[in-house]
Amino acid sequence: MPMNIAIDGPVGAGKSSIADQVAQRLHILHLDTGAMYRACALHMLKKNISLEDEERVAEELPNIAMSVRFSDGEQKMFLSGEDVSALIREHHMSKAASDISKLPCVREKMVSLQRELAGRQSCVLDGRDICLHVLPEARYKFFLTASASERARRRCAELAQRGKKVNFETVLADINDRDYNDMHRALSPLAQAPDAVLVDSTALTLEQVLDYMLSFIEEQADVL
Ligand code: DC
Repeated sequence: MPMNIAIDGPVGAGKSSIADQVAQRLHILHLDTGAMYRACALHMLKKNISLEDEERVAEELPNIAMSVRFSDGEQKMFLSGEDVSALIREHHMSKAASDISKLPCVREKMVSLQRELAGRQSCVLDGRDICLHVLPEARYKFFLTASASERARRRCAELAQRGKKVNFETVLADINDRDYNDMHRALSPLAQAPDAVLVDSTALTLEQVLDYMLSFIEEQADVL
């Protein structure tokens, strides 16, 4: 039986980096579910389909040839055989993914793909609705968060490292907008599951968060 670890949390809390590290330490896969919503939005944009046109999106959904491949522990996202891993990370794709993730037909399809994958092999899944909706039976559940201003600070630092200068207030406003969107949509809004372990990383380094989560997993594994 696969052993799954679910990590939910708001944008910029470090879920993906942490999920990556946890998966590497435990020698299991990391499935970044946000990347699936991003790829789905990219497919629709390529077809000039408005992300608000639910009927057209629903019609087009069966034509998406999305595949997630893992090489050297890294997740690569493909659309019809094309590696779109970099394209889906472009700035405008964040809003597009947030918009398309509100549509019930899209969520239904993504959730079913995620359950199928997690049913076949042990994975760390990170997203917004994993603990409450995708895998409520996951062995370990975490809600990883940090204050909005700390998340904006980290995002600015990350962009600065890549030579991109951005305005802190703009980044913070974007984070607040996306939080609002993710927490207030009708379907599977972002929320902490009652049985998920809260990890507030505002004052913690990535290593500290990782140590905490791995120790928790080890302790629980001893108890089980
Ligand atoms: O984690 P991310 O920024 O790559 O996610 C992009 C968008 O996808 C995010 O705004 C909300 C949505 N999403 C979701 O609704 N459910 C998930 N399990 C993962 C992401």
